[in-house]
Amino acid sequence: MSAPQNQPGLLFGADYYPEQWTPGDLDEDIRIMRDMGLTSVRLAEFAWALMEPKPGKFDFSYFERVIDRLGEGGLSVILGTPTATFPPWLAKKYPDILQERVGIKRIIGTRRQACFASTNFRKASEKIVTAMAKKFGKHPNVIAWQIDNEIGHEGSDLDHSPTSAKAVRAWTQRKYTNITAVNDRWGASFWGIVYNSFDEIPAPGRHVQSGFNPSMLLDYARFHSDTILDYVGMQVKILRKLSPNRALTTNLYPSPFLPVTDMSAMAEMLDYMAWDNYPVWGEMEAPYPHPLVSYLLEYVRGLKDAPYTVMEQICGFQGHQFLGYLPAPGQTAMWLHHAMAHGANNVYFFRYRTARFGQEQLCYGLLDHDKELTRRSLELSDAMQTLHIEAADFADQPVPADVVLVHDIDNARNLKIQPISKGLQFAPVPYADVGYDIELGTWFSGMNVLNVNTHVRPAAQVDLSNYKVALLPLYWLTDPDFVLHVEAFVRGGGVRLLGYRAGLKDERGWMCDTQVPGVFREIAGVRVREFEGVGEQQVKLRFRLLPGKGSKICEIVEPLPGADVDIVARYTDSRKFYQGKAAITRHRYGRGYVYYVGTSLTPESNILLYRRALRDAGVPFRFYGSEVERVERTGKSGQKYEVLIIHSRKVKFAGLRRLQPFETRIKKI
Ligand code: GAL
Repeated sequence: MSAPQNQPGLLFGADYYPEQWTPGDLDEDIRIMRDMGLTSVRLAEFAWALMEPKPGKFDFSYFERVIDRLGEGGLSVILGTPTATFPPWLAKKYPDILQERVGIKRIIGTRRQACFASTNFRKASEKIVTAMAKKFGKHPNVIAWQIDNEIGHEGSDLDHSPTSAKAVRAWTQRKYTNITAVNDRWGASFWGIVYNSFDEIPAPGRHVQSGFNPSMLLDYARFHSDTILDYVGMQVKILRKLSPNRALTTNLYPSPFLPVTDMSAMAEMLDYMAWDNYPVWGEMEAPYPHPLVSYLLEYVRGLKDAPYTVMEQICGFQGHQFLGYLPAPGQTAMWLHHAMAHGANNVYFFRYRTARFGQEQLCYGLLDHDKELTRRSLELSDAMQTLHIEAADFADQPVPADVVLVHDIDNARNLKIQPISKGLQFAPVPYADVGYDIELGTWFSGMNVLNVNTHVRPAAQVDLSNYKVALLPLYWLTDPDFVLHVEAFVRGGGVRLLGYRAGLKDERGWMCDTQVPGVFREIAGVRVREFEGVGEQQVKLRFRLLPGKGSKICEIVEPLPGADVDIVARYTDSRKFYQGKAAITRHRYGRGYVYYVGTSLTPESNILLYRRALRDAGVPFRFYGSEVERVERTGKSGQKYEVLIIHSRKVKFAGLRRLQPFETRIKKI
């Protein structure tokens, strides 16, 4: 039997917490949700303590009544397994299940405290998930399961507790068998940190000065990823057995909180991916630039290269202690359309009604703390009910694209450990260093503002032969198989844009003993002997007559003698001794081209580069200004559509077409 898929067509729902309201509210809530155009809810992802109030004493009667009643009222249910917060009695019984991050031990009273490596936590999770699946797995109104909630979020992806320290030693032993192999792999002769036995290996957490060995840190991140994957796999196994024909998913979460977990490997275990979409949050004064949000939406779409669910779609405005930007009229509806244009076909709004108590009293949902319809709930029900027939035609179809941006989790981990340039470090909160995502988002933005459909795909899964242009920024740590794949792509006629410091390291995290771009040297036709970390400085360049700017890292790019290389851009900054030297080159290789991009271009300069590369590849592009986005979609019948989205509070033009503030216009093409 084939695995169940995401719901076909369009489906709208809400994240619903009936346990936070009175029993008398339920029927009225069902009516209000149905009137808004909702047909589904997500339920129970934080309700472990309500379902297992005492160790081993399960009580599902409350949720059973709710699920039955929701079904009678026409609302299907996605059930969350409730493991993102566990009952306080569990930590009292097993203190070893609490995480510790850089010296801070997590305590009860908040969420995401669990150490995924703890056998006690795992056993307790197995019990609650099994009991829940036995109770509700075949309930006719349960359509799918969300495993955990935003697993690894809020810094819970890395743990330095004694339990994790013990587990990483076992993981290292399984991976390398003997301690000599570990010493070789990590280069233990450096600073003389030679281990005699596995029990000497630390959990690299808080320290005073000087860092830990980068190869060890890389393995530490891989260990955590494996541990989380194994934990999710445990839940998958239980649910597959006890809840046949129900789709399994989990909800991931936006940068700037991307963890060390390999989400592409997680996607392989699940039937579809889900995403929590908050283009603005907390005290932010303005939403993220829309190309960054498009990048994130494409990232989650690309994990399975398939339609996905937005499990939490912003519908009000939200924060924990602080609130900032209030979305303007039309903007929340636009964000709904934006997610759909980039491949979402099921959307659940976070949350139905705003909580009167608890940590999220400031997370405004469709309704406020009362039950009056709000401006935004009216706006969204109108947006759902008037959705163009065209949107339903393309919603669950693949998004076509000629361009792909490659995301690689090992490189994301490596960049957290050693960003080289201060400009590549971005840590809005201490536990989240997401310079990698910001840089990839910048590379994506150039294509996005040129209105070229662009996929984001994991290096481990992407088939480059499906594309004409491939973007490979920050590919410092190399996987030999992927390098061969890249070579074949270019030889066959592909256009590849390779970012600075490409080919710098091997899988161990060792520097290669060939100059950058190392293994890509032959296809790039260049080498780099010197470079500078310029942080946030903007260094002037010139693309023939047009000025541009680079930042973060500036490499002095030297064409190899005899190679067929053009200089695409040169440094022109008089502050720099390398003024006049090449910053970007283009090399003819086989039937394709490799652009070697020796610096981090500002978004405007990216456009100059991309226009040339897209022409080489024969991919059309059009620029309608920085606040008009155009996405192409194909419907079930093969009909093509143009989706124009206005990311502005002002009237905008797409060519001769005049569009209203925050309008989405869909047209057959
Ligand atoms: C998400 C989380 C929800 C809620 C929401 C608030 O990250 O999954 O439980 O906290 O943010 O905006």
